[in-house]
Amino acid sequence: MNIVRKKITVVGAGHVGATTAQLCAYKKLGNVVMIDIVEGVPQGKALDLMESAPIESFDMNVTGTNDYADTADSDVVIITAGLPRKPGMTREDLRDINAGIVKDVTENIIKHSPNCFMIVVTNPVDTMTYVAKKYSNLPKNRIMGMAGVLDAARFRHFISLELGVSNLDVKAMVMGLHGGAMVPLPSHTSVAGIPIKELIPQDRIDDMVQRTRDGGAEIVKYLKTGSAYYAPASSITQMVETIVRDKKRVLPCPVYLEGEYGLHDMFMGVPCVIGAHGVEKILELELTEEETAQLNKSAEGVKASISQLKV
Ligand code: NAI
Ligand code: 2OP
Repeated sequence: MNIVRKKITVVGAGHVGATTAQLCAYKKLGNVVMIDIVEGVPQGKALDLMESAPIESFDMNVTGTNDYADTADSDVVIITAGLPRKPGMTREDLRDINAGIVKDVTENIIKHSPNCFMIVVTNPVDTMTYVAKKYSNLPKNRIMGMAGVLDAARFRHFISLELGVSNLDVKAMVMGLHGGAMVPLPSHTSVAGIPIKELIPQDRIDDMVQRTRDGGAEIVKYLKTGSAYYAPASSITQMVETIVRDKKRVLPCPVYLEGEYGLHDMFMGVPCVIGAHGVEKILELELTEEETAQLNKSAEGVKASISQLKV
């Protein structure tokens, strides 16, 4: 029997990267390599994680490095390298500095893993995924951002709190850019198949939509020195799992658009089927006029961000 373990590289061994490495190891998705620009940090976190293996019962290897040669032939690469925001900052404020980091990281990764699936996390994520595509030249099925899974998880959790029901029974859809102009879709959100409009008054739905849009900032306000990482790492790991286990989950992700929803040459969150071939299909939902207007406003934000890129 020829069973080959997948190789998962996490670039950036900070809060999101290290937590993602932990979840990928605990879920036995493959061997994990953490790489960071800071010497010692990925090595130390990898050793610490491996010392939990006898207790957590996983037999995957987790290693840390500062050398891209150690990332060679990765199946999945997750880019979390870059600065997180601080209170008062928007994700857009990170654009120029993070674009340089993502360009540099992508060029290094692609030299050693030309056929990887790439998941970009660094903010502003829709724009950073565009940068990563430009410098990796990966085909569009092999590169995606992580945003909608997180935003939808937040929306799901707020609905579960509102109704006092299990998080598991709430299904939600959030499209558009990862920022203030994201587009949570109550019309495509349900509890055990029951549309939320039948369960929750409109003013409370509006409150939860707004809390979802502000979900990242709510955590930043508490943490003060950085941004969220537990739910982001869970969201990334779900995407990795659906690729390496060919689960064909329907997940909202920033993917390269070539005419879908009338949008071209940009990454933005839309529902996709994700599986062993990466982005296998983009689903085009029927949207109301108002939802379409919100999506177009989101797209304008992403286009403006891309047009200001200096790399
Ligand atoms: P962090 O500061 O804890 O970790 C970032 C890591 O990147 C640090 O260890 C740093 O040394 C490393 N790094 C910086 N430049 C590098 C380079 N050139 N090569 C390799 N490593 C490098 O930050 P955190 O909380 O892990 O967030 C990382 C990024 O992910 C931020 O941009 C944040 O805004 C973004 N993010 C995006 C989310 C999304 O939904 N798309 C969710 C959560 C975070
Ligand atoms: C979030 O939404 C930081 O973008 C990240 O928490």
